[in-house]
Amino acid sequence: MCSLSAKPTIIAVDGPAASGKGTLARRLAEKFDYAYLDTGALYRAVGVAVLNAGGDPQDDADALAAAQALQLEALNEADTQATLRTAEAGIAASHVAAKPQVRACILQAQRDFALHPPAGKTGAILDGRDIGTIVCPTAAHKLFVTASAEVRAERRFLELRRDNDQLTIDEVLRDIKDRDARDANRDTAPMKQAGDAHLLDTSDLSIEEAVEAALAYIAR
Ligand code: CDP
Repeated sequence: MCSLSAKPTIIAVDGPAASGKGTLARRLAEKFDYAYLDTGALYRAVGVAVLNAGGDPQDDADALAAAQALQLEALNEADTQATLRTAEAGIAASHVAAKPQVRACILQAQRDFALHPPAGKTGAILDGRDIGTIVCPTAAHKLFVTASAEVRAERRFLELRRDNDQLTIDEVLRDIKDRDARDANRDTAPMKQAGDAHLLDTSDLSIEEAVEAALAYIAR
């Protein structure tokens, strides 16, 4: 477990789909020169591995086999990154992520990253759904980043439309709402704001303003 007394400093950034938490977490990591882990990419990689093997992300055995075979090092490759960011990968991720065995399999790797950030970094920033509640409950700083579903759909639409000109904003909004419902209502590690997390609503904020607001919270 991450503990307050332990070095390094840990910042937990959670929130619903396309809330801007990834962009914010990356910017904070640059600012503080901390290591950054996109934990959603781990679940996306498991979901994509199941699909690539011809399996079903809702099947327990298929999901667990893919989680056990997950290689963190492979996630940084550019073509892997592009595959992981598709809408299909997000949907598959939220199915495998609802399975306790899959979460258990991935939990230790996340805690190891937080406690032993690579390249001798003095801190780690993890973004996801359960970082402040389950993965690093004693993180020094916790942010829960949100925005209205419509704003989030608009942002994600602009991102995904580059590779799919057939996509409609309604599809994106539906996907976001379905995924939020699955993530918030699952039994194991549901998405929720930790009691001691700072709520940051970015509906009306630019990226710069969101970073400023996060820095002001961290400085307090
Ligand atoms: O980028 P976006 O907010 O759309 O999603 P993501 O952070 O890449 O996460 C994809 C999916 O992985 C989520 O919908 C969750 O089902 C799952 N996830 C999770 O359960 N726990 C985490 N710590 C991170 C992601």
